[in-house]
Amino acid sequence: MEGVKYNILRKLKKSMGRYVSGEEIGKTMGISRTAIWKHVNELKKAGYAIDSSQRNGYKLVSIPDVLSSEEIKSNLDTKIMGKRILCFDEVDSTNNVAKKTASESNDEGIVIIAETQTAGKGRLAREWVSPGGKGIWMSIILRPAIPPYEVQVITLAASIAVIAAIKQVTGLKAGIKWPNDIILGEKKVCGILLEMSTEVDRVNHVIVGIGINVHQDNADFPEKLRDTAVSIRSYALDKGITIPAFKRSELLRVLLSELERLYESICCGNTAAVIEEWKQHNITLGREVRFVIKDRQHAGTAIDITPEGKLVVCCNDGRRMELISGEVSIRGVLGHQW
Ligand code: BTN
Repeated sequence: MEGVKYNILRKLKKSMGRYVSGEEIGKTMGISRTAIWKHVNELKKAGYAIDSSQRNGYKLVSIPDVLSSEEIKSNLDTKIMGKRILCFDEVDSTNNVAKKTASESNDEGIVIIAETQTAGKGRLAREWVSPGGKGIWMSIILRPAIPPYEVQVITLAASIAVIAAIKQVTGLKAGIKWPNDIILGEKKVCGILLEMSTEVDRVNHVIVGIGINVHQDNADFPEKLRDTAVSIRSYALDKGITIPAFKRSELLRVLLSELERLYESICCGNTAAVIEEWKQHNITLGREVRFVIKDRQHAGTAIDITPEGKLVVCCNDGRRMELISGEVSIRGVLGHQW
């Protein structure tokens, strides 16, 4: 049944803006006019604007901004990322659902996506606010054949993929604050939370959790976040930049496609290429950073990133330190703490 509904949708999409007669749909699908009418009504309920005319048939007028498997998969050109896409209206955290899914299946590239999260998780045990329909809250299950100490590079790859998706779909140029904050202007538009299951020398699975603020107005953010968080839409509005109308599914498709390209590089042992690309987008290197490790404050200048994705800092006391993302909270870049 679902299959027929989506076949009708695909047919209407091919003739977007033009009528397709009920007779033609009926003939290709081998179903009655009443059945077509029922399926079209379901599509309308899901938000698709479809004109129905007794004389001319059906015309798809507009597609809703929904994150359904159907919308994400149409025109998706990946082999691994999004092989299976599980969409939910509401979950506690897509990372939690992904963890459970990873324990039940050996596949990789499974994408878990939810319209809203009731207990979205951020780094350093912070909460991630995930209002319904306003963003992309997703997790991807990966099983890279790389040593555990290299996994951090996947965070860098995810950051690059988000930057590329925002650029390609909206034209906006975001930057990366090490290791995984995506910044528009001076505020955070996206965060990435990597969770993994490893043994001493191998990775069982990695969950790449990505949260992108897309449609929120400034007032949609809790007051305590308004100075530091931004959405793609609110940034463009605030700066008076006109961006093309876009759907979250388009953003997601580019993201998955870019992530697959970078992931293939990593799995082929070419992490250096990913690091080089990351450096082109980073806004941390060369800047003064302050960070806290085990309640002790340190300060210095970020000077490089290691092949494993650690941040190299030349501290003000002359010491050289290599930071792992899970341990530190960085202040200093743009004056904020995230
Ligand atoms: C950060 O603190 O910057 C990381 C935020 C990660 C949020 C995403 S939203 C989808 C996925 N599920 C979660 O619970 N967290 C990540």
